[in-house]
Amino acid sequence: TQSVSEIARVKNLNRLQIGKYEVETWYFSPYPKEFAHLPILYICEFCLCFFPSPFMLSRHRLRCNLLHPPGNEIYRHEDISFYEIDGKRQLGWCRNLSLLSKCFLDHKTLYYDVTPFMYYVMVIRDSAGCHIIGYFSKEKECAENYNVACILTLPHHQRHGYGKLLIEGEIGSPEKPLSDLGLLSYRAYWSEVIVELLMEWDGDISIDEVAQRTSITHADVMNTCITLQLFKHYKGQHLIVLNNAVIERHEKLRKKNRRRIHPENLRWKPPV
Ligand code: ACO
Ligand code: ZN
Repeated sequence: TQSVSEIARVKNLNRLQIGKYEVETWYFSPYPKEFAHLPILYICEFCLCFFPSPFMLSRHRLRCNLLHPPGNEIYRHEDISFYEIDGKRQLGWCRNLSLLSKCFLDHKTLYYDVTPFMYYVMVIRDSAGCHIIGYFSKEKECAENYNVACILTLPHHQRHGYGKLLIEGEIGSPEKPLSDLGLLSYRAYWSEVIVELLMEWDGDISIDEVAQRTSITHADVMNTCITLQLFKHYKGQHLIVLNNAVIERHEKLRKKNRRRIHPENLRWKPPV
């Protein structure tokens, strides 16, 4: 059998239609041969099954009664929800999710064996159903903590702060190496959280303390502080000190008023 990494990584798909969006794919994804190289591949936005024509998709929609991802809704705030999906219990759905996300991920071999993973899928709800925005996955049994394997915002939802929301919703540190976009987004998120803490903090603070209070790893705190140029050498000590540029950028960000995770809404249970 041929493994995914042996197949030439030539982009094999053109465009995808998912819900009301049509998006260009970025990378190779191992959809079955007969679905590759179509002008547009049509995806059911709820079960993530794929079809070669709008007609076949609409015929499928008559039978497909999903209006949200499978699994449990574990978070709800305003129109955003998270669903928790066990790869072992929802093989087909999670494989479809992997195929879809591979279109936008190149840096690593995506895991097509979905059974060791939990998937946390973020959706935006409206009267038509729960529309997938993105997700992160975590390995169930992971020697080094409970690591994030993969994180993705579908391209039509990117740059709206959802990536930060996904990062905020996860616990643990991302699996390295990060993609370029992954690195930019994690850096942006870590900076925001660290600067927020420093602005509220009185007196000196150590890297360890920052790491503890933010749940960001020591190494990630360190690198973020270096990037933001927050280290000052003073009387033989390294201090973490905010500078005006960083404060100004933070004030601007605050005005943007991005969505936040409200931890009290985790483990949301549907009313009985
Ligand atoms: N160019 C420059 N900066 C960017 C870009 C970009 N294209 N995308 C994100 N950023 C930075 C910005 O600072 C941005 O904040 P701003 O918009 O206020 O300036 C910040 O990251 C966060 O942006 P979000 O809108 O919160 O993130 P988004 O919803 O776009 O999702 C993500 C980010 C998940 C990385 C998305 O780009 C994606 O899915 N990319 C393809 C898949 C991928 O590479 N995933 C990460 C792999 S690594 C891993 O899985 C552990
Ligand atoms: Zn369907």
